[in-house]
Formats: sequence, structure tokens, C-alpha cells
Amino acid sequence: MTTRFSDVVAADARHIWHPYTQHLGALPAIHATSASGAFIHTADGRRIFDAISSWWVTLHGHSHPAIVDAITRQAAMLDQIIFTSFTHEPAALFARDLVAILPEGLNRVFFSDDGSTAVEVAVKMALQYHANRGSKRSIVVALENAYHGDTFGAMSVSGRGTFTDPFSSLLFDVRRLPDPTTGDTVAAFDALLEREGRSIAALIVEPLLMGAGGMLMYDEATLAALRNRARDNGILFIADEVLTGFGRTGPLFACERAGIAPDIICLSKGLTGGTLPLGGTVATDEIFDAFLSEDRHRTLFHGHSYTANPIACAVGRASLALLDDHCARRRQAIHDAHLAGIASVASHPLVRNPRAIGTVAAFDLAVGSGYLSPIGRDLAAFALQYDILLRPLGNVVYVLPPFCATPTDLGAVYSVIGQFLESL
Ligand SMILES: Cc1ncc(COP(=O)(O)O)c(C=O)c1O
Repeated sequence: MTTRFSDVVAADARHIWHPYTQHLGALPAIHATSASGAFIHTADGRRIFDAISSWWVTLHGHSHPAIVDAITRQAAMLDQIIFTSFTHEPAALFARDLVAILPEGLNRVFFSDDGSTAVEVAVKMALQYHANRGSKRSIVVALENAYHGDTFGAMSVSGRGTFTDPFSSLLFDVRRLPDPTTGDTVAAFDALLEREGRSIAALIVEPLLMGAGGMLMYDEATLAALRNRARDNGILFIADEVLTGFGRTGPLFACERAGIAPDIICLSKGLTGGTLPLGGTVATDEIFDAFLSEDRHRTLFHGHSYTANPIACAVGRASLALLDDHCARRRQAIHDAHLAGIASVASHPLVRNPRAIGTVAAFDLAVGSGYLSPIGRDLAAFALQYDILLRPLGNVVYVLPPFCATPTDLGAVYSVIGQFLESL
């Protein structure tokens, strides 16, 4: 049976509800037919540069042969299996290999589905860790402007605003620290510790790069100070590296830049090289041990149908193998290209706060502000005319390519951004 391209667009328009999309007045979705490396191919013959790694996931490039091979081999062998009572090679060896590259002390891997579920699991682990030890600590501390996902727990620890407003009365209460780019987070944490330190269960942060809150970048000293204060006060430190993990900020994990190791790390997106959905929450043995008990109530009662899906885990292992020295050099080349690109637009009168960390670069446009600022949509539409996929967060423009992107590719992106700025 052959499918006409127009059938796809018509079926989409009639039956699909897209994420983060206001369907009233939305342009028809672009029909992607294949993707390879840093490029997406469309039904109308275009070859679009994926400057945002398809929502920050694609690590090594689309349809990387090693990943495709891992998928096909594993799918033919063991596709899916319940993960209580059973284990399998992809999950066990992936966990072993993952732990080997994670910051010191993180040893127990709990698999889930995506970034939001990785965060849900982390928060539940942290709260139940204290409860299992007979401690009354139940307060969670999070940063203003944080983004940790779209499920209820993840929304609760995220900054409140446009994404969470309709649900605000149902989200659980957390203590907020100012985000480090706008306030003195460490001093605020000190003050909070003074007041409620003994009731705090966990502090959750996106280390060094706060993504959806506006690609906000902060310094290693702040991250290390927060981590050390958490440890000194018996508070679990959760690093949400869903975005920053697997090389995005230069080293494999952003925590490494600050020389710290969290008690719990949340992983997704690059966990499978950005190919299949998978979440991972990795905890220390001390946390795991607090769940060991003759009393079955102390079990972590959490799981998902597809927990540790064998195909996703096999792909995760294949992706880890690609994070070699060659990949590190590519990430450095991307960083260098960002510095040149950002410098080329920095002097424009509407550009504010140009910044880069590892393979991620961003700047703000002094035109409106916030996620709903229309300037982002205008730039996205402009760039698409030149076959470049950008998706600014309102007035925050960022470039976050897969690691196979070349300096030439990035030069083209910054040149188009430059043209857009000139048109304003
Ligand atoms: C830091 C961070 N945490 C959690 C999430 C949620 O991940 P997912 O969209 O896979 O649920 C995201 C998504 O962008 C993220 O950037």
C-alpha cells in the first residue's frame, strides 16, 4: 500500500494533538521522511539542519549506524520484558557501563521512561529515603526558573509560570531559591537552612545550565557551594542532568565541571543518544540501602510498563561507546564555533547576555520577554526558510546541535541569525 504525502499531513491535521502547540492558527506540521546526521529530510525535498538536536536529545546525529544496528539486533532478540523478577544483558551491562562514567558514588540505576519520570523517581526516592530512616524531613527545595518536566511532581519542583499556571493549586509546595543568574542562591539557601534546615529532604537543581527556563548559565562555585551545604546539613542533592548529561556542557556531566558528585542524578535525552525514550535515576548505595528492609512498606513502589526496555538499554550502551575522544574533540570544535558565532552577533543592539557552555550557546533578544514573546516564532519561521531548525524559548535564542555538526554548519546558523537581526 503506498501512502501519498498529502495523506500524512491530512491525517496529522485531523487526528494529532502536538506537544507545546497552540493548534488554532498553527501552520501545518512539516512532514519529515528521514533524518541522517545533523539533517532532517522532508517530504517536499528539503534538508533541514537540526540546530536544536530535536528538542535537545540527538547526541551523535540522527540514525547513526551503530545505534540503528543496536536497535535491530536487540529488537530481534528480546524486545520487551517485565523488569521485576527478570533482568537482561542490555539493562545490566548498560547500568554497569553507565555507573563507570558517572560522578563518584552513584551506583544504583533505576530505569524509567523519560526526563520527567526520571525526576519523579528522584523526588520519590529522596522523600522515602528519609521516611524509611524514620526522619521527618519532607521539604523539597528547588530553584526559581527551573524546569524539570511536565508530570505533576516534576512540575511542582519546576518554576511556576506559563507552563504550570493551570495546575498551580494542585502542585505540591516547595521552597524556592532565586536562580543563580538573578539572585544570591547560596545566601538564600543559608537563610533557609537557618530556618528549616532540619526539615529539608532534598535540593534539586539543573547543574550549570537551566534549559527551558531560558538557557540560564551559572557558575561552578555556586553549584559546588549548594552541593556542599546540602551534604553538611543531611539534605540529598539531586542533579537533574536530563539536558546537561552526556557531554552537552563539555565534560560528560555538568557536575564534573564543578568537581562535585550528587546523591541522585536524573538522566534521559542523551541517555540513548537521543534515539529511544528512556529515563535513568541513579542513586548512591547509601540511598539504596535505606530501602532494604524486612518491612515491605519500605520498598520503592514505583515502576513503568517499559522500565529498562531492552532495546532502549542496548541503544544506551551503543551510545556510550560513541562518547570517545573523537566525540570530545567534536564537542570542543562546536564550542569554538559557538564562541565565534556568538561574537558575530553580540554587538547587535538588540542582543543581550551572549553566552555559551560546552555545545550550547544562547543570547537574549531585547524584544518582549518570556516564553510567549512572538519574536522567537518569527526567528524560527525566518530560519526555516533557510532550512535551519531553531526553536527559541520566546526571546531566548539558543543553538544546541548534535555532536556531528560541523563548524561550517554552525557558521550557516549564525549567518542566518545575523540576517534575521539585520531585518529587525
Ligand atoms: C532539565 C530537564 N529535566 C527534565 C526534563 C523533562 O524531560 P522529558 O521531556 O523527557 O520528560 C527536561 C526536558 O526538557 C529537562 O530539560
